[in-house]
Amino acid sequence: MRLSVIGCGYLGAVHAAAMASIGHDVVGIDVDAEKVGSLSRGEAPFFEPQLQEILQAGLESGRLSFSTDMSSVRGAAVHFIGVGTPQQAGGYAADLRYVDGAVSELLPYLQPGDIVAGKSTVPVGTAARLAELVTPTGATLVWNPEFLREGWAVQDTIDPDRLVTGVPSGPEGAVAADVLRKVYHPAVAKGTPFIVTDYATAELVKVAANAFLATKISFINAMAEISETVGADVTQLADAIGHDPRIGRRFLGAGIGFGGGCLPKDIRAFAARAEELGRRESVNFLREVDAINLRRRERAVQLVVEGLGGAVYGKRIAVLGAAFKPHSDDVRDSPALDVAVRLHGLGAEVVVTDPEALHNARALHPQLTYFEDRDEALRGSDAVVVVTEWDQYRREMSPAEVSDLASGRVIVDGRNCLDPSAWRSAGWTYLGMGRP
Ligand code: UGA
Repeated sequence: MRLSVIGCGYLGAVHAAAMASIGHDVVGIDVDAEKVGSLSRGEAPFFEPQLQEILQAGLESGRLSFSTDMSSVRGAAVHFIGVGTPQQAGGYAADLRYVDGAVSELLPYLQPGDIVAGKSTVPVGTAARLAELVTPTGATLVWNPEFLREGWAVQDTIDPDRLVTGVPSGPEGAVAADVLRKVYHPAVAKGTPFIVTDYATAELVKVAANAFLATKISFINAMAEISETVGADVTQLADAIGHDPRIGRRFLGAGIGFGGGCLPKDIRAFAARAEELGRRESVNFLREVDAINLRRRERAVQLVVEGLGGAVYGKRIAVLGAAFKPHSDDVRDSPALDVAVRLHGLGAEVVVTDPEALHNARALHPQLTYFEDRDEALRGSDAVVVVTEWDQYRREMSPAEVSDLASGRVIVDGRNCLDPSAWRSAGWTYLGMGRP
């Protein structure tokens, strides 16, 4: 099938390349000429495992191209909208200007029978509003939310755990759902659940999923706060409750909390939308989820201060990690970088390292010092803080090695990813999050 993907950020670029890799002819559109240039040369504009390979293969096959020119979407049967919906400046609601702009620019090129498939995360009610613009062209709007995780984006796009499509009522809705089944043919053929529903449910599925995940993380972080007060160990608590299959151990990783381009802004936009709908009380707990999450960053800073005897001023602190999670170079709302910035604000000499995210981190916070090399960052440090659980820090960093490089013997484990006994027996003061 011939497809277009409008917006070539984390979502759109992966979607375009993944759709080409399963046999479609795809054109990706973006207003950013630099991004289009690098994608067209086969260079992924951000770090995402497997993306580079499928991008190059798609370009070589001739099935994948990128353009800044919206008229290149002509002839595509399905047009995916994958532009960003960031948090509004000065508010919690989602900023829909890119979605609205993409749809209005697309309108002149739509043909009767075309499908416009929204993938961006939007406040419930957006699809119904956009359908009023799309329907007069003879095209059909569907809402087809995306559940990919950064770091696993290619795999999650090609082989998702479910597919959700919100369609209008009537025969055109059923026809559109069948077209999307053809688009996602490999996943459909292997029996992946394919849920066809109305617009509002499809929009809500996406924000409800992210709200649930954020709540799960903040729940365990709230237990970490209580554990800190009573001397309990939240990691053992998580293991124990996680054995109950109704609870499950995944997303019960206590630490400095969630960040990134999705969970923080999505729960805020959800709360803002619920308030507009007169249902503030239904998701009031999301404000608590947000507040717990932000407190954990400060807690990590407090541990560093305590570990260094009450003050960090003038102390050299090696911060291991800048990305909001491993296998990503994304530093949007990164708790890791936030901890680094807060320590810098207290007068510490902060040295940050990360295997992939330094370029983005430097652009956002040029006031920090960055080292590509982990060992250079560790050399001469008074304290070490692990804030992104990359394997380079979690698995491939022994206390003996770090003892040869660091001056001090304080390690703060912001992700509870290290073995406390290994560090303590090597003479270190180990401080975890919600662990005695
Ligand atoms: C999240 C969702 O997991 C995806 O399903 C969704 O499609 C995506 O948002 C989106 O809306 O596009 P992502 O932002 O890539 O995906 O990251 P996650 O893997 O969910 O991690 C989010 C944050 O939570 C990270 O900062 C991570 O370190 C933190 N986290 C995760 C914890 O603090 N504890 C955990 O146990 C798990």
